[in-house]
Formats: sequence, structure tokens, C-alpha cells
Amino acid sequence: MLATALGALLLPLAALALPFGAGESATNTITRNHEPESLPLVIWHGMGDSHSSPGMLKFGELIQKIHPRIFIHSVYIEEKASEDQKAGFFGDLEEQLEVVSEQLRGIPELQDGFDAIGFSQGGQFMRAYVEWYNDPPVHNLITFGSQHMGVAGMPPCRAFDVICLMARAAANRGVYTEWAQKNLIQAQYYRDPARLEQFLEYNRFLTRLNGEVPETRNATYARNLASLSNLVLVMFSEDDMVIPKESSWFGSYTPVEDPEMISDSQGASVNIMGAGGIPREIVPMRMQPMYVEDWVGLRELDERGGVSMEICEQRHMHLPPECWEGLVKRFVGGGWGSDDRKAGSALREEAKKFAVQAK
Ligand SMILES: *[C@@H]1O[C@H](CO)[C@@H](O)[C@H](O)[C@H]1NC(C)=O
Repeated sequence: MLATALGALLLPLAALALPFGAGESATNTITRNHEPESLPLVIWHGMGDSHSSPGMLKFGELIQKIHPRIFIHSVYIEEKASEDQKAGFFGDLEEQLEVVSEQLRGIPELQDGFDAIGFSQGGQFMRAYVEWYNDPPVHNLITFGSQHMGVAGMPPCRAFDVICLMARAAANRGVYTEWAQKNLIQAQYYRDPARLEQFLEYNRFLTRLNGEVPETRNATYARNLASLSNLVLVMFSEDDMVIPKESSWFGSYTPVEDPEMISDSQGASVNIMGAGGIPREIVPMRMQPMYVEDWVGLRELDERGGVSMEICEQRHMHLPPECWEGLVKRFVGGGWGSDDRKAGSALREEAKKFAVQAK
């Protein structure tokens, strides 16, 4: 079935990049048909995937079955699929975000704003775009199995995924080093509950994204995030890649004072057990300091009714139709009507008024 195939294709498989051989550059814009009444869509792939993998192309096609003439752009760091896949493991996220913001600003079809979908790590990267740039602005953002509060353990690699294994081996040599924090993507959202001090000192991406370091907080980021019409957070109930899976809902393990380290199957230290082997408790979104004190506008958005928490009863990135079709119908391709569609803040103001009326 399509759904199963899609789920499998969105998983990190190095082989996915093969259809686009060396030197061949795939097209990043899935369609150029532009339906003026509906907002375009930007999608950001997950770890181990690329902008034009069969899974991403398939997803675009399935969305076009629902919204036939929608314009879809698949975010890329590198045009060549194999390089793009590598950029999901190696690089500096702040630099990558800069590349993406220029890319999106340069696409005429997106200039009045767009809806966005982020798959897995692409979800928190898309949120970073909203907070730090949002020009052109995002209307609705759906994230599937994303790591909004980071991960407490490195995501496991699939067998034979050499790039992933290399990145992981490098991370095991030290995740809170300046080198790792500038060069290893997963290290940049690794939030170890047993080493929060080191995390706060060395991490630049996630701490800034969630406002955890006072010096990097910025009212503009909060205003941008709060200006979303909807932030839709999908968690996979059977997720065993994202540690903890509640990170998809802005949950994280309670901080560890006296860590009892255990090792996972690939040798990384991971703190998933509290004293006496009892699974660590989760701090839910609404109890996170970043939410309570509203460092990035998440609380404002939630109190306006703009945060939806959805559950998909599957493993990580297994997406049968019942997990995404309804969301795509509801949150993607909606039109403001061409007369109502105004660039930048005008659109966002409309969105806010609409959200208030809809309550
Ligand atoms: C906040 O972010 C905006 C947009 O990036 C920037 O122009 C501004 O200088 C920042 N303000 C501070 C205090 O860093």
C-alpha cells in the first residue's frame, strides 16, 4: 500500500539518494502550477532523506491529489540529492538556515506566504525559519515526529547508513564541543538531561530556538512564532527513534541531578532511566520554563488556540493516510481568497483575527 511505502521511504535509507546519480541535479520544485486561491506549501525532509527522494516526491504527489494545483517547494541545502542527504548529518544549522531563508525569499510563488510541513528534524528546522526569518511568512506549520525539545540520545542509524554511522561515531567522541556543535547536525539538537549545564554553554542552535539562553532571546523571534495561524505537532506513539518521543510535543525528560548512565545498542550514553531504573518523567509542554515564561511565543500561540497536538499510532515517520490526510486537508492549501492575500504582516494580522473569530 502507498502509505506503507511512503512510511518506509521517509525513513533514513542511504539508498534513497541513488536514483539521482553523481552530477545529476534533481529539480527541487515539485510543481510550478500555481493556484492563486490556495497558499503554496514548503516541505522540509528528515534525517537520512533528501529534497527529491522518492519518498518526498511521492508525498508531493499525494498532496496534489488533495490540492490539485498547489505549488510545492522541497527545501534543499545542496541541489545534488546525495549532498543534500549528507547536509542532514554534517554542517552548521545556523548557516543552513541562512541558505534556506535566502532560497525561500527568492521563490516568487512564495512571496505572499506559505504553509509548511517539516518531517522529523526538518520540523524544528522549519520552526527556526519561522522564528528567525519568517520572510515570506508561514501560515500553518505541521511537524511530524520532530524534536522540538531536542533529543536525550542520538537517533539510531539504520544498518548500512554509512553517513549516519560516521556522524554518530564523531558525536560519540564528544557532543558538547565547539567542533561538534558547528559540524554535526544531530549534536545541535542534542539536549542531555544529565548535562544541561554543558548543553546551555555549548549548544547554539536549540538553546536559541527555545530561548533557553537569555542573551539569545529576541522579541522578534517570539512575535514570529506567535504569528503562525496554527502549529500542528504530530507525535508518533510508537516512536523509538526520537528520545523521548514527547519531544514532538515539546516534552523533555526531567533534568538529571544524579545521572545513572546506561548505554544504548550503539554505545552512546543515554539517560532514559532514573534512580532505580524507573523511566524518567516527562516535563510536558505547558510545564516547560520556555513555555511558562513564554521565551519564544509558544505560550501566546497556544493560548490563542494555535497549537494542535496530534497523535499518530505508528513508529517514527510511518504515515498511513489517517495520520496525515485530514491534517493536509485542514491545514494545507487553504485559501485566503486572492483579494485577502497580502504579504507579510498584513497576512499575519488577518490570520490572527481569523483565529480569534474562530474560537
Ligand atoms: C532581534 O532579531 C532581529 C531579527 O533578526 C534583529 O534585527 C535584531 O537586531 C535582534 N535584536 C537583538 C536585541 O538582538
